[in-house]
Amino acid sequence: MVKKNTCIFISGYGSNLKSLIKRSREYNFPAKIKLVVSNNSKANGIFYAKKNSIPYLLINTKKRNFDFEILKSLKKYKISLICLAGYMKIIPKRLIRNFKKPIINIHPSLLPKFKGLNTYERVLKNKEIQTGCTVHHVSEKLDDGKIILKKRFFIQKSDNIKILKNKTQNLERIGFSEAIINLFRYN
Ligand code: GRF
Repeated sequence: MVKKNTCIFISGYGSNLKSLIKRSREYNFPAKIKLVVSNNSKANGIFYAKKNSIPYLLINTKKRNFDFEILKSLKKYKISLICLAGYMKIIPKRLIRNFKKPIINIHPSLLPKFKGLNTYERVLKNKEIQTGCTVHHVSEKLDDGKIILKKRFFIQKSDNIKILKNKTQNLERIGFSEAIINLFRYN
């Protein structure tokens, strides 16, 4: 199997990055992590990149044309899939248009419900019966592209923000790699 060269965008802890690195070592997993991009030089996820000898690029999203810098690296590492794993910035339209290959994102709610930030608070406030995570294609609208997969669980009375986050993130670690497998199943 020819694995797709994959780039993971992060901003923070990097638990999704960690699990994707682990899965990508399996001989039949369709993606190989070739590059990590972070907008945050203090992101814990960079530690996982370093530990696994994966090149990483630190970007400053306040800089003009920072997206060209990213595109240059994507080209250098022949990237054919971008995974946004806790990347907390909007992807510039110009990057989406120029990359032309799949960009996928993981979001901690059952989209189209609860787009944007503070999902756990809003899920509880809205007295939802269930929640979970969604992996979807990135389009030019926030948290709005075609859905690849959702993973869900029922909310218990005793669940608070911390517990919901924990349960959701446990599902994310399974869901993200499953979505990548689904994406390339027939390619
Ligand atoms: C995840 O819950 C993801 O859904 C959200 O940000 C979180 C990132 O977690 N967009 P991590 O950095 O992968 O640990």
